[in-house]
Amino acid sequence: MTTIIASTNRPESYTLKVAEYYKQCLFNLGVSSEILSLANLPEKIIHPAMYESQKIEDWQPIQTLITGTRKFIFVVPEYNGSFPGILKVFIDACEFPSSFKGKKAALVGLSTGKYGNIRGIDHLTGICHYMNLEVMSLKLHIPNIHKEFDENGELFKEDTLKFTKQQIEKFVEF
Ligand SMILES: Cc1cc2nc3c(=O)[nH]c(=O)nc-3n(C[C@H](O)[C@H](O)[C@H](O)COP(=O)(O)O)c2cc1C
Repeated sequence: MTTIIASTNRPESYTLKVAEYYKQCLFNLGVSSEILSLANLPEKIIHPAMYESQKIEDWQPIQTLITGTRKFIFVVPEYNGSFPGILKVFIDACEFPSSFKGKKAALVGLSTGKYGNIRGIDHLTGICHYMNLEVMSLKLHIPNIHKEFDENGELFKEDTLKFTKQQIEKFVEF
């Protein structure tokens, strides 16, 4: 199973829109996937009970999804020069090491600034490798994300469409 992690809990995020775009592109290539938006994490995720996450109501379906996933796509916005804290809270709540060990991931960074979360994607790569989650070498960075969608809410820029297509095709083979 493939799961796309929309790695923020910010309402109406661009991250979720990009995650939906990746899901559609995968579908067009015959690959079904699920989106896990971190906006849908249980509120108690920041309670001390998170370290015994089986005690948090509504956590188990998320753990079951992660346990059943072989390949991940993380769509990750830049918050204060790195990835959002909620992503690390989520990773820390997942069972270790079985949730990610021996599995594969592709990473997509985005930002309103001009670097497309290069540093956050580097930070996340280090954490993935610590967890024995193999990261695909072709990572994507989408800066100026607020200028990427047309009036119909679709990605339209030639370069973005070209590079996302390359990454998604490579991910299917990965
Ligand atoms: C808490 C927070 C911190 C942010 N820090 C940065 C930043 O360091 N660099 C940047 O280019 N954009 C920053 N942004 C803007 C995000 O890149 C912007 O919200 C963008 O739309 C992608 O995130 P989204 O999925 O939340 O929409 C920040 C946004 C938030 C909410």
